Amino acid sequence: MDRIDVVMMGMGYIGLPTAALIARNGDSVHGVDVNQRVIESINAGKTHIVEPELETIVAEAVESGRLKASSTPVVANTYLIVVPTPFKGKNEPDISFVEAATRAILPLLKEGDLYIIESTSPIGTTDKMKDLIYSERPELQDKLYLAYCPERVLPGNVMYELVHNDRVIGGIDERSTAKAVEFYKKYVTGALHQTNAKTAEMCKLVENSSRDVQIAFANELSLICDKAGVDVWELISLANKHPRVNILNPGCGVGGHCIAVDPYFIVSDYPLESKLIGAAREINNYKSFWCAEKIQTARLQFELSEGRKPRIALMGLSFKPDIDDLRESPAKYIAQKVMQNTNNEEYFIVEPNIDNHHIFKLTPYQEALKNADIIAYLVAHSEFKKQLPARDKIVLDFCGVLN
Ligand SMILES: NC(=O)c1ccc[n+]([C@@H]2O[C@H](COP(=O)([O-])OP(=O)(O)OC[C@H]3O[C@@H](n4cnc5c(N)ncnc54)[C@H](O)[C@@H]3O)[C@@H](O)[C@H]2O)c1
Repeated sequence: MDRIDVVMMGMGYIGLPTAALIARNGDSVHGVDVNQRVIESINAGKTHIVEPELETIVAEAVESGRLKASSTPVVANTYLIVVPTPFKGKNEPDISFVEAATRAILPLLKEGDLYIIESTSPIGTTDKMKDLIYSERPELQDKLYLAYCPERVLPGNVMYELVHNDRVIGGIDERSTAKAVEFYKKYVTGALHQTNAKTAEMCKLVENSSRDVQIAFANELSLICDKAGVDVWELISLANKHPRVNILNPGCGVGGHCIAVDPYFIVSDYPLESKLIGAAREINNYKSFWCAEKIQTARLQFELSEGRKPRIALMGLSFKPDIDDLRESPAKYIAQKVMQNTNNEEYFIVEPNIDNHHIFKLTPYQEALKNADIIAYLVAHSEFKKQLPARDKIVLDFCGVLN
């Protein structure tokens, strides 16, 4: 592979599928990762992440010579930054990976290159990287195209959504936006919406914050209903009969690496102004704590009335139904919290979407259903809805499995 069109910094859940797609469309891609295992697996035409269709597309791209991975970037025309942006300390965004990836490509940049950040980033990150780039390479001032374009794919449907989803593209100036649009046009069929970098950065954060706030409203209702003696599921279903009301479902909190994380990127930088977004985060976190407390209370009540310790089934560990992803999962937090205070009770942990777990011993659903005295539904997996518990069981349904 001689001429490289695109360098992809970060070959994870987003970087690898994007790189494979670009290669399939005819451009040559050089993927860069700090993880040697990731590099070896890609160069062997394999994938280290589970995603439908991905394996075939990566194998073809590597076979064709248009996709290759290594630990160091090379000269290209377009550089994409798709590295992690976790949070650190008191829920503050950590853009050190974006900065490290940008520094790595700094010596390679030349006039006319396009630099795009796709990593979910705090507002102003693209401007910060612009300052970094031009302070280190002043001779390139205003001769590069710099833009931000967030990713909004759904794991499990990534290959389809990468192509078909609308994209929001914001450059540091209009010529950068236009140049980035040209780039995405080659493999995205969804609409490409043009804006500035800050708006594009904030758009991604707002999409996830909006979900978080709406789920927090449902979770808050569930807390009120529990005290008021009202069935929250019936209440929401009736309220949603109003033509302009659409309340989401409550659950045992909010998890995953996006919705439970991204709102903090706003709250951290705008604490005074983001009262509602911050409160939503607190409510959704509190809901998990509340569920754990409910399970402890049910456990004590059982012991008092039955004169023996209950066997408790905790149903689900993933952060949402029918997936194997446990990142930031409220169900996992609840299981850990409940079992921390264990007093020799017997627990059955059920997660039908994974085979084993390094901390929890997993029990098949049917077995837990049969042997437990208390059944706490933490995730509304489809399997759980197919066979419901016997009438003599104590059921804590935090996510509407019985509805
Ligand atoms: N996964 C999703 O569904 C999703 C959706 C939308 C947005 N995002 C955002 O996209 C970004 C990437 O997410 P992801 O899920 O692909 O993360 P990931 O952890 O799967 O992949 C990131 C990769 O970057 C590598 N890396 C770290 N530092 C590097 C460096 N300096 N140079 C080169 N590689 C480096 C890591 O080893 C890793 O393989 C994040 O900001 C995330 O919030 C992810």
